[in-house]
Amino acid sequence: MAKLALNGGRPVREKPFPRWPIYDDRELKALTNVLESGLWGIGGRFKKEFEEKFAAYQHAKYGVAVTSGTAALEISLRALGVGCGDEVVVTPYTFMATVMAILHVNAIPVFADIDPETYTIDPRSIESVISERTKAIIPVHIGGRPADMDSITSIAKRYDLYIVEDACQAWGSEWRGRRVGAIGDMGAFSFQSSKNITSGEGGMIVTNDEDLYIKAWSLHNCGRLPYGEHYEHYMPGWNYRMTEFQAAILLIQLERLDEHTRRRMDNAYYLDSKLSKIDGLKPLKKDDRITRNAYHLYIFRYDPEAFDGVSKNVFAKALQAEGIPLSIGYSKPLYREEYLRYFDRCPLSCPYYGKPVDYSNLNLPAVERACYLEGLWLPQYVLLGSREDMDDIIAAIEKVRENIDELASVKVS
Ligand SMILES: Cc1ncc(COP(=O)(O)O)c(C=O)c1O
Repeated sequence: MAKLALNGGRPVREKPFPRWPIYDDRELKALTNVLESGLWGIGGRFKKEFEEKFAAYQHAKYGVAVTSGTAALEISLRALGVGCGDEVVVTPYTFMATVMAILHVNAIPVFADIDPETYTIDPRSIESVISERTKAIIPVHIGGRPADMDSITSIAKRYDLYIVEDACQAWGSEWRGRRVGAIGDMGAFSFQSSKNITSGEGGMIVTNDEDLYIKAWSLHNCGRLPYGEHYEHYMPGWNYRMTEFQAAILLIQLERLDEHTRRRMDNAYYLDSKLSKIDGLKPLKKDDRITRNAYHLYIFRYDPEAFDGVSKNVFAKALQAEGIPLSIGYSKPLYREEYLRYFDRCPLSCPYYGKPVDYSNLNLPAVERACYLEGLWLPQYVLLGSREDMDDIIAAIEKVRENIDELASVKVS
């Protein structure tokens, strides 16, 4: 009789992991406060308060609260003057919004490979793709894990490049004790519904540079100036303003973040210690320069050879059937995704750039392995569970490993 739940056996786990998002009476009260204030958008106090508190939380001087992480990235690039004909170096192991932000400002994404042991952008690969057109680097702190900011900062200095940190998954993460976001010139955060603090949608730009702050503020608010008149528009601008409802909820969500981060880190270290004892599985490499990790994702590496050639997709399906929400994560490097076909004019064949851009022959080995063979994720809410919940994850993995012969013939699309 089959043992694995995928084949009709009894699952290791039937109870759910902690629910996400989390809220209580404080969020309800915050929403009522906004409703009763009569100021639901411009002119309210919550957006400003959240900008100040969140920027300080990230060790930054300034914050601009916007509609999404995508908007935060786009405005950061615009504020830095990145545009037509410029190249921006980016990792292909990220959410598509990172690359879309570059395309939104009509610049050219240039992909650098990831480090095979950390899944963050590989500084050696960044250097190998820099050209006289390169204007900026976007390191992504994937899953909350800071990219190697020492090397990236020194490359940016050497080649005179801007750094826009994609910290959309990295609230409170630290590199050598410094919170991410404003280690580079500008940083972007997301508060979309899966994120560790959320208002359904929302984003934040942080920076330490007053000029960049004013530009970003103006760009997100119809070209106005922070102390200017309502109908004076100093530069082209968008309406990318966060609402008071979002800001009020996020102020409360922020109060839980430290305790949640501690819990996620404890559980992640526990999983690291257990997984590293299982043949064929590897946690991402430890790095003492990372002093805090938001663990939006718990990412680990799977070696199909050690599991009788069973693919990571089938392995993940088997774990899901056992009651563990294991994800295959990004299933293709971003330079292989269909969305790029839609840019048949600018910016990918833009006269300002002078040559067509073609990603069809790009093959970066570490990201290919991560997407097609190795990378597996557990979502952040799982890490809010108890030690027993973590033990269930390990028990389910061990069960699937012991019964791997049952999977040899399973086909999963
Ligand atoms: C790494 C990364 N960059 C950018 C974004 C875009 O954020 P948003 O969905 O808020 O636009 C996300 C989130 O979805 C993300 O995970």
